[in-house]
Amino acid sequence: MRHARVYGLVGLAALAVAAAAVAVAQTTVTPVPDKAPVQVAPLAAEHATWGDPKKGQQKAGACAACHGLDGNPSVATYPRLAGMPERYVAQQLELFTAQQRTTGMASVMYPIAAVLSAQDMRDLGAWFQTQKAGAGIADDTAIAAGPNAGKKYYQVGETLFRGGDKARGIPACMACHGAAGQGNPGPAYPALSGQQADYAKRRLEEYRTGTGAPPTYKNFHIMASIASKLTDEEIGSLASYIQGLHNRANDAGAQASAAAAPTATVSTPAAAAPAPTMVAPTSIPAQTTAPVQPASKAATPAATPKQG
Ligand code: HEC
Ligand code: HEC
Repeated sequence: MRHARVYGLVGLAALAVAAAAVAVAQTTVTPVPDKAPVQVAPLAAEHATWGDPKKGQQKAGACAACHGLDGNPSVATYPRLAGMPERYVAQQLELFTAQQRTTGMASVMYPIAAVLSAQDMRDLGAWFQTQKAGAGIADDTAIAAGPNAGKKYYQVGETLFRGGDKARGIPACMACHGAAGQGNPGPAYPALSGQQADYAKRRLEEYRTGTGAPPTYKNFHIMASIASKLTDEEIGSLASYIQGLHNRANDAGAQASAAAAPTATVSTPAAAAPAPTMVAPTSIPAQTTAPVQPASKAATPAATPKQG
């Protein structure tokens, strides 16, 4: 935690510097680059710097088969990497190399990560962070029974995502993952917006089990303590909500999804801090996979941008 806070402060300091620079620009006409990347401490002894997205693109060919060249996968089980903070991508690649991330299908990534240098990891991170994440659709089927009867399926997750549950000590997910699920580059918190429901659900279940990560892998344990309090319904619903949540900045990708499937898109006005917007179907489109869970989860992303 302390570790994460230090990076959080570094991130804030960088933002403060950027904000000050903007204020100066207004009076002195010095052009300030739009959206300058937040500088973070190097991850490894090799002194890797903020990655180069162009170099990352050249290296991303090795990732395309599973994650899509631009980080938007076409298979539901693979995580979406588009829009992920650069630092998170690099950090996870290091965890795969060290074989500290052990849950789920992590071993698939071991040989792939092992051949990358620290700079490769950051270049790849920079490439994926600068790609637009598509979004899928959230399941709005009414819940038939239980404590949440009558609510739309995704609404259980939406409530937790935005407000947590004080009585049970569950923090709002957006406190760390951002209001639009955009992640947090400073402490390397992953983006969640548009993440594939299958993958997000599996990850939350792995955190809830709470085993398989060494004590030094602190971020795993942060999520484990949160997920330990979630019910099956909450995990399923959160995964569905996350899949339909899209970052306003990524609307191009989300609109491609909306065009491909008959969905109702509810957009909120663009603001400095992007507000979360939902893509919720009025009915589950015919091309989505047959539900495998009782509460009918449409796991297939409506559409993802074509891979290059
Ligand atoms: C053979 C398929 C395959 C290839 C090729 C592949 N990956 Fe993966 N990747 C996976 C799978 C499966 C996972 C999920 C692992 C798990 O279950 O936790 C994953 C997870 C990841 C994650 C963690 C994502 C998250 O949200 O936590 C990152 C980062 C990643 N891969 C980066 C890459 C990069 C960069 C490349 C190319 C250099 C690459 N992968 C190539 C299959 C692949
Ligand atoms: C205190 C900060 C914090 C809060 C609050 C939080 N998370 Fe996380 N979350 C993290 C961190 C850090 C990670 C990365 C963990 C790792 O490296 O395995 C993470 C990872 C995840 C992942 C895996 C992402 C991926 O790409 O593999 C999911 C899914 C997730 N969180 C969902 C949630 C949900 C749902 C909530 C609310 C119930 C939540 N988180 C609340 C910090 C937080």
